[in-house]
Amino acid sequence: MNSRKASAAADRELTPPYARYLVPLIRPFPNFDLFFVKSLRQRAVRRLQLHPGDRVIDAGCGPGGSFPFLVDAVTQSGVVVGVEISPDMGLTAKKRVEKNGWTNVEVIVGDAKKVELQGTFDALLLLGAPDVYASPAALANLAPYLKRDARIVAFGAKLSHRGLGKAFNSIFRLLFSKATFSSTPQLDYEPWKTLESCVGALAVEELFFGWMFMAWSLRTRE
Ligand SMILES: C[S@@+](CC[C@H](N)C(=O)[O-])C[C@H]1O[C@@H](n2cnc3c(N)ncnc32)[C@H](O)[C@@H]1O
Repeated sequence: MNSRKASAAADRELTPPYARYLVPLIRPFPNFDLFFVKSLRQRAVRRLQLHPGDRVIDAGCGPGGSFPFLVDAVTQSGVVVGVEISPDMGLTAKKRVEKNGWTNVEVIVGDAKKVELQGTFDALLLLGAPDVYASPAALANLAPYLKRDARIVAFGAKLSHRGLGKAFNSIFRLLFSKATFSSTPQLDYEPWKTLESCVGALAVEELFFGWMFMAWSLRTRE
């Protein structure tokens, strides 16, 4: 294998299986986002209680679908830093930044478990990022960059306690494990617990038959 092929293969290994086919398809459309995710992003960003001038981390930012809402909330005087392990996803996120002319958004291609950031932050968004919100190592790495009263919002998949949802738990668990990295924490009923033990009590809302959750900080900004 020549070095270019080897590097492309290595990049592919750093992209979650579900996204390996999706990324090349969406690359020509930097502002692409699934329409039904928009309201979730809005709800998550609202719960971050961002102010103009704030600095926010979007960990596991993927192609940057939350950037427009974060930029809108922190305004030009604020800063958005996306952290993304997949170079392919990171490139797509960078194209979104370029296309929109955002000068206050930085995309760092790196592992949330090891990434080094500059300065401290008012908020942390973990949208669909189980490798971060359910990873003690990733949270331990990011926590020192958060201000004492930083707001945190996580959204992701979970197993359901409810009738219809419960009936499909095993198939959902199987699909989730096929779609994610082999190192991604497996689905459970309370995936926010790792985050809670790191950042303190969270409010939790269950969505979509109990298969999804959103969790957010209870403390308010000082
Ligand atoms: C389901 S996607 C969600 C993307 C984005 N937050 C969104 O809302 O569209 C999860 C992302 O987390 C990234 N990821 C997985 N492990 C990571 C890690 N250790 N550090 C940074 N990003 C990671 C994946 O590559 C993927 O792009």
